[in-house]
Amino acid sequence: MSLLKDCINKKKTSSIPIWFMRQAGRYLPEFRDIRSKNTDFIKLCLNPPLSKEITIQPLKRFKIDAAIIFSDILFIPYALGQSVEFEKNFGPKLGELDYGHVLNTPDEDILLKLNPIYELIKITSKEKILDNKDLIGFVGATWTIMVYMLNRISPKKKLDDNIYNHPNEKELIRKIIHAQKIHIKNQVENGASIIQIFDSWAGLLEEEKKNKYIYQPTKEVVEYTKSLGVEAICFPRNIKSYKEYCDIVNPSAINIDYEVDPKKIAENINIPIQGGMDPKCLLLDKDEMLKNAKKYLEIFKNHKYIFNLGHGVMPETNPDNVKILVDFVKDFK
Ligand code: CP3
Repeated sequence: MSLLKDCINKKKTSSIPIWFMRQAGRYLPEFRDIRSKNTDFIKLCLNPPLSKEITIQPLKRFKIDAAIIFSDILFIPYALGQSVEFEKNFGPKLGELDYGHVLNTPDEDILLKLNPIYELIKITSKEKILDNKDLIGFVGATWTIMVYMLNRISPKKKLDDNIYNHPNEKELIRKIIHAQKIHIKNQVENGASIIQIFDSWAGLLEEEKKNKYIYQPTKEVVEYTKSLGVEAICFPRNIKSYKEYCDIVNPSAINIDYEVDPKKIAENINIPIQGGMDPKCLLLDKDEMLKNAKKYLEIFKNHKYIFNLGHGVMPETNPDNVKILVDFVKDFK
């Protein structure tokens, strides 16, 4: 058992569980060292000995309770045969979506492309440093993957109306869900003990479209994850009603963003809560940072709560601050 699983399953824990989104990444000098010698991000993710090392780097520094695999949500479009590139200082660039190709990608091709990720999970889960801790696998939510695959996100983070109602839309959604299930199953079979579902663009969708693009697909993926005996934590970033989301999608735990009022969340939502604090707090001086952390810890004192942030650790974060924060949360009574 682990602290995270105990918390999610509403058991008493000796301390508050803690891990960070983007804990394995650009703010760590030991990561930058590996990254500078490996300029192709996709190849680096698909190199199991190296991606294993990056996955466990934060555990070597901090008393955190979980590792998250060093990978990316865009490996699903990649596995479906769409070209994916990561350009420095620009972010991901996906090629034109070829429906014929994507919709007809056989499962064997998906597995062949994603196999190094399963190898990464297999070798990482055997590491001693992960004893009694979780190895978190993840997928992007159907909606967020669809947004990337359709290349419909402008630099102003506005959606283009053409995103809806393509003649092949229904098939595309089914294919993404199918690939998500394959990816989750293989992560779990190789040692991922919890799955997090990232819906980073949930906040962009119009209210009346939520059921079709967010609730129904994610509910299906969450149910599938649970059927494998594994907890599913969802992060529908900036969604208007976390309460409605939880009532319909029914995740094992919910990660909240930093814009939502944590007091309202504590009042309205009964399932275990994760995250919330603004990642920018880690850029403040120590006292200010801890004051913010304490706010979340106090608000969720009578709740099942996993400490995390309201989005990923920022690249300019000083790792010393991460250590101070982790030690503070671990000592909080
Ligand atoms: O959390 C972790 O430490 C594990 C690894 C992880 C990465 N991406 C590595 C990464 C995880 C969980 C993700 C998820 C992911 N990827 C999301 C959902 C979470 C979120 O941030 O909203 C999204 C939307 C993506 C897509 C993506 N990948 C973007 C937009 C970018 C570029 C911008 C950015 O934040 O860096 C990436 C690249 C990426 N994924 C990097 C890392 C470490 C940076 C690559 C580099 O070193 O240049």
